[in-house]
Amino acid sequence: MRTIKLNLNKRSYNIVAGGGIINLLGKYIAGLDIGSDAYIITNSLIKNKYAGALERALRQAGFTVKFKLVPDAESAKSIKMVSAVIEDIVRYDKKKRLFIIAFGGGVIGDLAGFIASIYKRGIPYIQVPTTLLAQVDSSIGGKTAVDLVKGKNLVGAFYQPRLVFSDVNTLKTLPPRQLRSGLAEVIKYGIIKDPRLFAYLEKNYADILARKGPVLEFIVGRCSRIKANIVQEDEREERGRRTILNFGHTIGHAIEAAANYKGYNHGEAVALGMLVACDISKALRLIDDEAAKRIKQLIGSTGLPVKIRKLCAKDIIEAHYHDKKFIGAKNKLVLIKGIGKTKIAQNLPLEIIRQALRKRF
Ligand code: NAD
Ligand code: GLY
Repeated sequence: MRTIKLNLNKRSYNIVAGGGIINLLGKYIAGLDIGSDAYIITNSLIKNKYAGALERALRQAGFTVKFKLVPDAESAKSIKMVSAVIEDIVRYDKKKRLFIIAFGGGVIGDLAGFIASIYKRGIPYIQVPTTLLAQVDSSIGGKTAVDLVKGKNLVGAFYQPRLVFSDVNTLKTLPPRQLRSGLAEVIKYGIIKDPRLFAYLEKNYADILARKGPVLEFIVGRCSRIKANIVQEDEREERGRRTILNFGHTIGHAIEAAANYKGYNHGEAVALGMLVACDISKALRLIDDEAAKRIKQLIGSTGLPVKIRKLCAKDIIEAHYHDKKFIGAKNKLVLIKGIGKTKIAQNLPLEIIRQALRKRF
């Protein structure tokens, strides 16, 4: 079991990662003094698989437990769902000291975190992430949000959880495509910050895909440490430090949007976006052939896509203008100067992006 402290003065919290630790959750929450009544937001798939263990752990530590089920889809991240869940909380919240538990992947984490941030102007919440993407990324750092028809994550708040509790054993039931999607974010951490993690992934990616417990615990712990360090330096993405987490995401989001959020899941699109960013970095002579080759090889060997299908470059370029990181008419892209080193490029000529994109077809 690993414990990582994310230091944000009064908003500091621990990220705990390990195999089979869910039965310890009650004790951890009891030590936080955040309330006595757990309101758990999840979906039926996760509830059927894991609610028994979670409920036992909480009841044994003296908490009352209520589950609230939301649909298993990105569409659960909506204003309508926020208001429906809050109405339910209001009916339930009599003579209680309520806190929220987000029990699921990034969809549940973003929705539950946002609800916690606005109900009664903010109540405590805990992240219990159950996908690899949520364990290494979305549960950490306090970004909460729901979607509007016009775009993803357009309504949200920075609101830090009081604890992140990642039981890597839950990853054993993740569909393989979903596991690979999270692995794209793990590879991203290696590329932007940690050459040793990158080398570890080159050696151990097959064991990750085979869901070997110690390997999963190692990567979740290591990525949590990297993300915590970045969030500590730039909690609200105001100093340009947190921006590096968007490596691969500008073009990745454009690919997801151009495919109407159907053809590619997040990690697959990010993998392609990282390859485009890598080709741009190479074209600008920021990295050598060897680094680019290693990145392509690792992404390819994990089964993540290396070619874009059923889309055209024009639609992707068009979609990239809607990226949140676009400031005025200037684009902003995270590039690399080697494995483990980033460079933020602004206002890159469109032709350079277009040429790198063409290599992915
Ligand atoms: P998800 O939450 O939709 O989960 C993927 C699927 O896996 C779902 O069907 C879910 O029910 C299922 N699942 C979850 N845990 C499981 C388990 N242990 N076993 C079997 N199935 C399981 O997807 P995700 O990839 O975790 O998250 C994507 C969301 O995260 C997006 O909405 C994205 O915007 C958001 N996100 C937020 C941040 C942030 O910083 N807040 C960062 C990245 C992504
Ligand atoms: N997932 C990007 C961030 O947390 O900043």
